[in-house]
Amino acid sequence: MIKKIILAALFAGTTFTSVAQNKIAAKDIAEKMKWFEDAKLGIFIHAGIYSVADVSESWSFHNGKISVEDYMKQQKSYTLSKYDPAAWADMIKDAGARYAVITTKHHDGVAMYDTKLGKLSSVKTTPAKKDMIKPFFEELRKRDIKCGAYFSLIDWTHDDYPGFLKDKSRYDIKKEPARWARFQKFFQGQIKEISDWYNPDLWWFDGDWEHSADEWQAEKTRKMMLDRNPNTIINGRLQGYGDYDTPEQNFPVVRPAFKWWELCMTMNENWGYRVSDNNWKTPYEIITIFVDAVSNGGNLLLDIGPKPDGTYPETVVSTLKELGDWNRRNGEGIFGTVPGIPLGHFYGPTTLSKDSKTLYLFVHGKTSGQLMLKGLDNKIQDITVLGSNVKLTHKIVGKISWSAVPGLVYIDLPENTSDKYVTCIKVTLDAPIKLYRGQGGFLTN
Ligand code: GLC
Repeated sequence: MIKKIILAALFAGTTFTSVAQNKIAAKDIAEKMKWFEDAKLGIFIHAGIYSVADVSESWSFHNGKISVEDYMKQQKSYTLSKYDPAAWADMIKDAGARYAVITTKHHDGVAMYDTKLGKLSSVKTTPAKKDMIKPFFEELRKRDIKCGAYFSLIDWTHDDYPGFLKDKSRYDIKKEPARWARFQKFFQGQIKEISDWYNPDLWWFDGDWEHSADEWQAEKTRKMMLDRNPNTIINGRLQGYGDYDTPEQNFPVVRPAFKWWELCMTMNENWGYRVSDNNWKTPYEIITIFVDAVSNGGNLLLDIGPKPDGTYPETVVSTLKELGDWNRRNGEGIFGTVPGIPLGHFYGPTTLSKDSKTLYLFVHGKTSGQLMLKGLDNKIQDITVLGSNVKLTHKIVGKISWSAVPGLVYIDLPENTSDKYVTCIKVTLDAPIKLYRGQGGFLTN
């Protein structure tokens, strides 16, 4: 973990290329980004052999925590004996997620599908003898959930990949260009396979930081995917050739610069399943983070890891259930909305309906009392609590009849009306929202 942080610091600036300095213009991709923009919630699945021995995904052998031999031995116990893709898809749908992203291959090079190109796959080298991706995507599609393929560009166990262990690499690309060209052909080939066989709605690349855009043939790779499916969305880890930003674990405090972004975050501390990791985020924490991302124009890609037999820890199941129940009560204020009003008007996250005639205010935790809204230059038609539909009263305070400055809106939230996690208050306005953003005083308007 610490090593990873140090590594990230070393690569700071080159890690996780921000699409803000991208070659891709927002206006050129706006149309295909529509579903992503409305989707808000995705479930990330790190499925792999690393779930067997209580080690971190790929990084454990790369960083010398376990020998490569022992790491690879995990393949023998990756059974997927209870893998039920329909149940996975039900769980994801029930949580309210609109898309899912699964690892087709992590940095360890073990594909979770039937690759004809690599030596390592869940089909050939594990007792599972199964392609995980095909049936999973089929089940997702039956439920109208978009399908995302995580693909690691890094392949630390491939003979032709230069990187291997943190202090040991195989070769230098400049000295052996033909070997690197062989690897390029290989990874391009795997991308073609995934594209032809599963046609992902979204590509989630990872590991671009180990090489430049030229070395990854990023432009050509992007074109190849788009030639096959012009609507496919590509995450921002393709050295400047992706469609959206991917802040990881570390929560953005200010809104990321590029129009589309997604926070990927683990439910506990690891991407894959680890029996020893019990540091779960609570439903309250996940929901508050989710709301915060959405109110800032982002999505949450919440990560879970299945066990080697293909089942999930009880906490994953129960937390997704709580999240789903919350979405059923409050989803109107989340899905298909746009980011809310600037901070300062309300002390909490907000969203707006697309016609900006409805404002949604989010209030954390069990609470009651008067909530203040500043600078709202509209008439309020109605205020209700989502989920229960309880109507709320309000009062306008400090409105001076001859001044253009709006009064303060105080909304009464009685006891026992709040949600157990986050309450969503729906404020219906007479017209698209208009905000007063002056400095007050009788000369300003
Ligand atoms: C990082 C890690 C990787 C993980 C990914 C998910 O880039 O290298 O292990 O799969 O983030 O966002």
